Amino acid sequence: MTNSIQTGDRIAIVTGGGQGIGAGICRQLAAAGLTVVVADIQADKASAVAAALGSRHASRAVDVSDEAAVVQLFDDVEAHIGPVGVLVCAAGLLILPGGERPMIADMSLDTWERSFAVNTRGAFLCSREYLRRRTERPVPQGRVIFFGSVAAQLGGYRASAAYIGAKAAVMGYAKAFARESAHLGITANAIAPGLIDTDMLRSTVSSSGALAAAAQSIPLGRIGTVDDVASAVSYLVSPAAAYLTGLVIDVNGGYRMQ
Ligand SMILES: NC(=O)c1ccc[n+]([C@@H]2O[C@H](COP(=O)([O-])OP(=O)(O)OC[C@H]3O[C@@H](n4cnc5c(N)ncnc54)[C@H](O)[C@@H]3O)[C@@H](O)[C@H]2O)c1
Repeated sequence: MTNSIQTGDRIAIVTGGGQGIGAGICRQLAAAGLTVVVADIQADKASAVAAALGSRHASRAVDVSDEAAVVQLFDDVEAHIGPVGVLVCAAGLLILPGGERPMIADMSLDTWERSFAVNTRGAFLCSREYLRRRTERPVPQGRVIFFGSVAAQLGGYRASAAYIGAKAAVMGYAKAFARESAHLGITANAIAPGLIDTDMLRSTVSSSGALAAAAQSIPLGRIGTVDDVASAVSYLVSPAAAYLTGLVIDVNGGYRMQ
């Protein structure tokens, strides 16, 4: 869906905005007054999220692992909506063949490659395109938010080694991106969510009882919500966070303390 956007709006692309944490981020950024482009490989879900946000907002179908599709997304948004001020790379993929966590010895190369293609290559392609555009046409308060994971910090109990490796790469890449974009006034940070109640987390547990048991290992005593994570993103996007860059911010209820 394409909508007319008022000049001067602060525009955000949220990849993975069709559901879960990404959708929660879309809702909070829209409520904060940003114009949101919900970008997801699931076009119908992205469209539904954008429609619920209101007519100022838009959706786009994109596979973040596809270089041409990402370039096309930015061409389209910059031409028809405006310069992207905020990029949130929330699209992510955890592959559990047959519903089971694949052990390294049994893991197919395809699982490894696809995990990196979506989680790592996707973050690189989207942020590279953002950086190219903002180098040509800087905007005030440029912000990029990447998504790592507590799984990459701990070695993971439910995620696969492919996902863990891909997310660890994103957290390192976020720091390199922060250094290379700082001269443009852009801040770049990564969020490392803990256990957050979404389809992705539920795909790793056999029952809601298992989820409740997992909550007992979290000092704050509960599984996180999408709003817990979206609130951290809203803060990083706000003017109040202008001097924070190159961080990995844990949103995990104390599950892992540094
Ligand atoms: N839920 C958790 O406990 C948790 C923990 C740590 C990190 N994360 C990370 O947070 C982010 C959001 O996770 P979530 O729990 O909301 O997951 P989710 O599976 O509910 O949503 C992921 C979204 O990404 C989209 N997506 C997948 N592949 C894509 C592609 N190739 N191109 C574009 N979009 C694509 C999906 O369609 C979906 O809308 C992810 O990066 C995830 O790895 C989640």
